Amino acid sequence: MADVKNYLMHINGEWVGDELETKDVTNPATGEVIGTVPNGGESEGAKAVEAAHNAFDSWSNLTAYERSGYLKKLNNLMLEHEDELARMMTLEMGKPMKESRGEVKYAASFLEWFAEEAKRVYGETIPTHAADKRLRVWKKPVGVAAAITPWNFPAAMLTRKMGPALAAGCTFIMKPSGESPLTAVKLMELCEEAGIPKGVVNLVTGSSSKITKAFMGDERVRKITFTGSTEVGKTLIKQSADYVKNVSLELGGHAPLLVLDDADVDIAVKGLMASKFRNAGQTCICANRIYVQDGIYDQFVEKITEAVKGLKVGNPEEDSTDIGPLINQDGLDKVKHHVKDAVEKGAEVHFGGESENNGLYFEPTVLSNANPSMVMMQEETFGPVIPIQKVGSEEEAIKLANDTPFGLAAYVFTENAARGTRVIEQLDYGIVGWNNGAPSAAQAPFGGMKESGLGREGGHEGMDAFVESQYVSMGME
Ligand code: SIN
Repeated sequence: MADVKNYLMHINGEWVGDELETKDVTNPATGEVIGTVPNGGESEGAKAVEAAHNAFDSWSNLTAYERSGYLKKLNNLMLEHEDELARMMTLEMGKPMKESRGEVKYAASFLEWFAEEAKRVYGETIPTHAADKRLRVWKKPVGVAAAITPWNFPAAMLTRKMGPALAAGCTFIMKPSGESPLTAVKLMELCEEAGIPKGVVNLVTGSSSKITKAFMGDERVRKITFTGSTEVGKTLIKQSADYVKNVSLELGGHAPLLVLDDADVDIAVKGLMASKFRNAGQTCICANRIYVQDGIYDQFVEKITEAVKGLKVGNPEEDSTDIGPLINQDGLDKVKHHVKDAVEKGAEVHFGGESENNGLYFEPTVLSNANPSMVMMQEETFGPVIPIQKVGSEEEAIKLANDTPFGLAAYVFTENAARGTRVIEQLDYGIVGWNNGAPSAAQAPFGGMKESGLGREGGHEGMDAFVESQYVSMGME
């Protein structure tokens, strides 16, 4: 058994929490405990708030160029430590190594982008209606920002929030998921190495509900930024009401992928493979239900099945692995339940359909003959399963695609530009991949419509989430 290290939290420039009970972090590929973190609660959350509050004045008073410099250093350090960060991520949540390396680069790209954006937080001068007045708007950092992040992207979901927060002049508290907190510990070490002043970035681990209570019960936390389930997002909206906190939410998805009969089938297959099997299907924006027009249906099912047969399932530490384990037993049980339900309701299995005999692995699976009565056509599966439904027309595909409370990401495959434009204009989704299964980028807005969230992360809109406009009407008499 590997050495089990007890990692710590980081509050006000100190590694703390060794007096607390610990929580195990388990490798989902082996079931082994690979480390522990302190099981912090309300008191630790409160200490982090105090530290972030005390650091706010000096951090927000640095010039944008100075804050940018810190972010650039952190970006460089992340890239220098790519292998170490990636390995930690793979061990704690089972993402295949090649994807973990990709995530480290993706995570660092938010720091690079927001290091540059820090210098472009412009205000404006508004033409006046009165000769003796001048009207100006400038942008103030919103204040202490607390980030609650998920296990599936343990580095990128932190930096997508931390980059704009620090760039804007906010101080920051990270509360990573209990399933994968160790990547955050590594990131915290790099923040220290980058020389980010004490209290500007803090890390608390432990009970989500107790730590969140500390964030919500303190008026000095002005920003809550969360990625996770819609259910928890709704609770956070309610909890933030007392102090009218500024809330950004990136919540659940149930992405439709439309293959229209004038699509290039090879491009559509490549796009679906890229979208669906990222992180073994445990990605909020991955395609969850596939609608294929009847003229191209048989050919598409055949080609996607061939492509899926080529995926290698196995030890995520090996560079050749495409699909690692699911995060935990609940995740596996959900995927099994969705597949069983679909098969009982008439789905035809072209490949896969079973969990591996040991551990948390589920075979990449292709199902055809899907229909809306199946649970997986109504809810996010979060696993490596492709359910394909035949549709007769573009209108039917759009109607089915929009028939959900969610609106995070959608995908459309067609070679006809007018048709693609027309279809996309009717889709109620915050992100659309057109002939493209991998739309995420640091410089582009990421976020959902309807019950998939509030606000956008990334791009210049990502900065808006951490600033407030202050309007000044100046008398000239
Ligand atoms: C997510 O699953 O929420 C993150 C996916 C991405 O950033 O592309």
